[in-house]
Amino acid sequence: MKFSTPIHTLTLVAVYLFSSTIANAATLEKRDDGDEGIPTINDVQNPVCKPWVAIRDAIMGDIFHGRCNDLARSAIRMSFHDAGTFSLSLEAAGKTNGGADGSLIADPNEINRDENNGMQAIVEALRPLPQKFNVSAGDVLHLAGTLAVLACPGGPVVNTYVGRPPFKNVNPTGMIPDTHDPIPKIVDRFNDMGISVREAMALIGSHTCGKQQFVDPAFANDTFDTTPEIWDIRFYGETQRNDSDPNVFRLPSDLGFSHNSLTQKDYSRFVGSLSTQEDWAREYAKAHEKMSLLGQDADSLTECTEIMPPSIHLRDITTTHSGGAVDPPVDPAKLEAAIQQTRSIWLQ
Ligand code: HEM
Repeated sequence: MKFSTPIHTLTLVAVYLFSSTIANAATLEKRDDGDEGIPTINDVQNPVCKPWVAIRDAIMGDIFHGRCNDLARSAIRMSFHDAGTFSLSLEAAGKTNGGADGSLIADPNEINRDENNGMQAIVEALRPLPQKFNVSAGDVLHLAGTLAVLACPGGPVVNTYVGRPPFKNVNPTGMIPDTHDPIPKIVDRFNDMGISVREAMALIGSHTCGKQQFVDPAFANDTFDTTPEIWDIRFYGETQRNDSDPNVFRLPSDLGFSHNSLTQKDYSRFVGSLSTQEDWAREYAKAHEKMSLLGQDADSLTECTEIMPPSIHLRDITTTHSGGAVDPPVDPAKLEAAIQQTRSIWLQ
């Protein structure tokens, strides 16, 4: 992994600074229940949700190590590649459909499709969990996706559900957009999932934490913005301006979204400052919740958002410098202190 952007270097330095800065740790985002800590099994009210505390810890601790690591990045992408195979037109035709059913980890072959390349490690890591905890693959996969968003500082709490039945069939092929597809084709595909352009433009911001390996292997590990460790809106502005940075890779589809007449308006809503960051986090959370339910009967599921750890709010961990026209940069010492404060039980 490259540590070439400023945030990478500074984050490493911050590990050494941490002990002197813990007193300045960020204020944590309160969940709806007003609690600021990581909910324990005793905090969880709904008996259906209590067993999910152990599954949360297996994913957030043993797999993500409490951080926005490569497996967490991959888990966010995986939640799209599982759910994004859903099709309203296939449903209307009564044909075999995809959706947020976990077939990507339960089926032995789906991961071998070209479009799923790069997610082998997260699929392998999650595959034993449904049997170990006697739950469905869909629930495990989509909990991993919502936990991964939180593992990345700035990532919001996404409402999280359990109770998906075992998958019925493998996801149909050819449903996940390719980055070289024309924008109208990609927009049509999102519409066919039941995802609006506005929701799609919120979801695409998850590339804020992403890296590419296979679009151009010569630039493997290049990131999609200059701050891949944090869940911020820099991705939107940097991509739209097509800023020049030797370590950042622009996906053709992301560049297209930022300028195409079908998507530009909704894309541009997330180019801005810290207040925009909050708008985006809120819209992203709603869109990701919807994505995690595609093809599922939501009324038959149980909401277990109460098991989720608190998010780290970027507002509290920025430096006092303006950073020019964009958001003030995140202070690496405060960032590390906030991670330590919120994730100490999982950090290894
Ligand atoms: C038009 C739709 C999309 C296209 C064309 C697209 C394309 C891509 C590509 C080409 C990569 C790099 C894969 C590699 O070479 O390793 C990638 C990574 C990623 N994508 Fe997307 N994506 C789309 C939508 C989404 C959505 C809706 C989400 C989630 C909500 C998402 C989350 C991610 C994440 C988190 C990564 C980084 C994975 C990692 O670092 O391991 N993408 N995407």
